[in-house]
Amino acid sequence: MGFDSTFENGRVVTPDGVQSGVSVGVKDGTIAAIGAPSELGGADRVVDLDGQYLLPGVIDAHIHARSPGYEYKEDWSSATAAAAAGGVTTVIAMPNTDPIIDSPETVRQAYDIADDDAHVDFQSYAVLTSENYDQVEPLAAAGVPGFKVFLGTTFGEIEPPDDGELYAAMEAAAGVGKRIGFHEENDEILSHWEAQFKREGRDDPIDHARSRPVVAEAEAVSRIILLADHADAPVHMFHVSSGTGAELVAEGKADGVDVTAETCPHYLWFTEEVMNEKGNVARVQPPIRDAEERERLWEAGIRGGGVDCIATDHAPHTDEEKNVEEPFGNTWESISGFVGLESEVGSMATFVSEGRLPIEQWAYMHSTRPAEIWGLYPRKGSLQVGTDADFTVVDPDAEWVGRKETLHSKSKTTPFNGEQFVGKPTMTVVRGTVVYGDDTLYAEEGYGELAPSGETTANAEPRTYPN
Ligand code: DOR
Ligand code: ZN
Repeated sequence: MGFDSTFENGRVVTPDGVQSGVSVGVKDGTIAAIGAPSELGGADRVVDLDGQYLLPGVIDAHIHARSPGYEYKEDWSSATAAAAAGGVTTVIAMPNTDPIIDSPETVRQAYDIADDDAHVDFQSYAVLTSENYDQVEPLAAAGVPGFKVFLGTTFGEIEPPDDGELYAAMEAAAGVGKRIGFHEENDEILSHWEAQFKREGRDDPIDHARSRPVVAEAEAVSRIILLADHADAPVHMFHVSSGTGAELVAEGKADGVDVTAETCPHYLWFTEEVMNEKGNVARVQPPIRDAEERERLWEAGIRGGGVDCIATDHAPHTDEEKNVEEPFGNTWESISGFVGLESEVGSMATFVSEGRLPIEQWAYMHSTRPAEIWGLYPRKGSLQVGTDADFTVVDPDAEWVGRKETLHSKSKTTPFNGEQFVGKPTMTVVRGTVVYGDDTLYAEEGYGELAPSGETTANAEPRTYPN
């Protein structure tokens, strides 16, 4: 068989193991064969990976592309240029845009913009609020991979449904095979402490973190799991920040609830000390936790299998909005969130190089699991013949330092600036085409396509890896 291209001499990573000495043949954008080079036929183009890792394309199921409405922060072109440069082949964007994505019309509007501008493949969630909680079926029919509910108010000030409305939405989502994902923080706890801290004049960057205690996350996780258990509905916890949260998710799974969870590189990499070192640059919601919580997040979430997947919560804002001129200024005058698309592969590869994360588990958590959870599987999320030829190529030995000047996002503000990584994304392949390589963005705006969105996969038996 003549291939359009073959990717040779790589170490091919799947959730089941690493294979050396195999080549991947690509035809018409899909994987046509995987096998010994001698068994594969010729190709128009041969890419020599020189012993680097070839992973199933990294999926970031939690980014804020900001368009429509906040293009001064980010747009689909800049966000997906960052994705391509960062080794990310598919992104799923959050609906806290302007207008918010809460109707079939606004879903189509988001898809149209992304279709024109994106460099990598994409999807978008719809938000559920008190106004549209009964619109689950038409939103699912419009093509969304799942839903977002903001329980803790955050950028966009979107009012969540009340518990009754939420319960009804959960039942409807279960009926169409879609998962509702949450910003899981108890808003009453957050509002109480923010007001109290302001009255007391506590306004250091770390005070923002302290005003959003772990109990706010724990209460929300527990409540959602209880409701989901009774509604018999699949739910997902975005950005689990604490060991306490991860332990509650693990308990929910053990009790048979269809609950899945994500954490982000910053919760695994930093402790809350980063607020004293880098100030409001690292301000994020939920906040970065103390060392003890981080260790338990590793234990219950990563080693114990409580957390299913990794995503960034890439959340661009302007320097003025984050007040980066004065990183230790009044935290209440700064905004939460920072970019992450161009450091996520570096940070996860570094955990692999340190022996803290088996590379097979990384592929599972950063590609296969998000694809299953959001209904992109099997076209996305694995290296099986017949599926999209999406690859993330990683040089495991490359030592490098995160540098804000090199980022493709409109926002350059990230606590990963200046951090040292071992393992670098060197080539990003979407549907057989090299969209990024040789430090060059090759894909045009509009190359990216809408990713599929089938039914969510039920909660998997937590898959644990010897470590
Ligand atoms: O820090 C955050 N920023 N957390 C969120 O949940 C939202 C995000 C944003 O949209 O800026
Ligand atoms: Zn977010």
